[in-house]
Amino acid sequence: MNTNLDVLLVSDEEAIQNQIKNSIESKHVQVSVIPPNDVIREVNRTPRDMVIYLQSETGNAVENIQYIKSASPSTFVIFIAQSADFSLLRDVTRAGTEEFFVYPDELSLFLSRFPTIQQTYMAKKESDDQQSSHLLGRGRGHIISFYSGNGGVGKTALSASFAQTLKLESASEVVLIDFNMQFGGMEKLLSIQSNRSIADLLPVISELNETHIRNVSQTEEFSKLEVLVSPCDAEVAETLDDSFIANVLRTCRRSFDFVIIDLPTDINEKVVTALEESDRIYYILLPETPALKTLKQFEELSVRLGIELTSRMEILINQTGKDNEIKKKDLKNLLHFPIATSIRRDIKGLQPFVNKGVPVRRSSNEKKLIPFAKDLHKFATSLLK
Ligand SMILES: Nc1ncnc2c1ncn2[C@@H]1O[C@H](COP(=O)(O)OP(=O)(O)O)[C@@H](O)[C@H]1O
Ligand SMILES: [Mg+2]
Repeated sequence: MNTNLDVLLVSDEEAIQNQIKNSIESKHVQVSVIPPNDVIREVNRTPRDMVIYLQSETGNAVENIQYIKSASPSTFVIFIAQSADFSLLRDVTRAGTEEFFVYPDELSLFLSRFPTIQQTYMAKKESDDQQSSHLLGRGRGHIISFYSGNGGVGKTALSASFAQTLKLESASEVVLIDFNMQFGGMEKLLSIQSNRSIADLLPVISELNETHIRNVSQTEEFSKLEVLVSPCDAEVAETLDDSFIANVLRTCRRSFDFVIIDLPTDINEKVVTALEESDRIYYILLPETPALKTLKQFEELSVRLGIELTSRMEILINQTGKDNEIKKKDLKNLLHFPIATSIRRDIKGLQPFVNKGVPVRRSSNEKKLIPFAKDLHKFATSLLK
């Protein structure tokens, strides 16, 4: 086995780079240093085990890291920022950075953690080498968020039945996460009684793995879907920050085929992180004028916050019916995003389930589905093809 670690240090700050190089270089750790502008050429030349990227004035760090990860997905990227900048953290982590430290405050933390990072990386590399034939065909999981700027439009009902349907109608591993940290909701809808919540991942967040997630998640009785329920506690919610959310989502992505998120309406750093991590955002829209105005406000806010929607947002029209104020064909002309599907209004079918707190779906290939579940079934299974 090759026990050497080949590290590329990207930097144009001599003092800092020497300090880092001298501290981590050893018999088994080779470090070569290049300026940010040479990243693309160097990565094409030789894929590295690890890249330590020091923030600098030159070169676009986010683009470079994206490039490194696309050229060599197994390369472990550590970003060292020169200021604690939330939006930069978001962008570089979205680009694929695994670890993030702030210079100079966290330099000693970085150096003390480096041996563990190195060990973990080497162990993973070895097992990946052995298992690579089994891994073929199993891509990374998809993160799908259900969002709307309006409350009471069906985010919780739709995300729950959507997740159940995916689980029942395929062999996929599915986890459903309730992001309504203060009041929850999913546990009531799915009759889940639990004293564990997503907040129980906090003590292990820095070493989070699939086992931690499955220890905390609850298995929904009928579909065997995993559910990470809300702490239902405003004070506890305060202790969970955006990097906690990013860690949970990334770990879920590695361990599940589908990660389904029920988001709250209020935009905060946690919700922004979830939206940023999502491969697909379904915006739930009722076919009426006020809902269109809220959607427009959300689009404007996303531009200001730098959340990129064009490539991943689609509209899911909920509660369509004969008496809708706006017809689907008119909506098409009013929207800037594709319409994923529309779901009929089905109060008669849905309400008894909601009132009793029993899941809408119970087994695969069910014969007598209510119209709401029928529409969702058609939609969810079309995505599995
Ligand atoms: N297509 C639909 N037909 C009938 N009732 C619906 C439909 N979608 C959602 N509802 C109902 O609307 C209410 C609000 O839904 P919910 O999922 O809690 O909204 P949100 O999570 O967006 O606040 C619930 O009582 C739900 O059962
Ligand atoms: Mg809800």
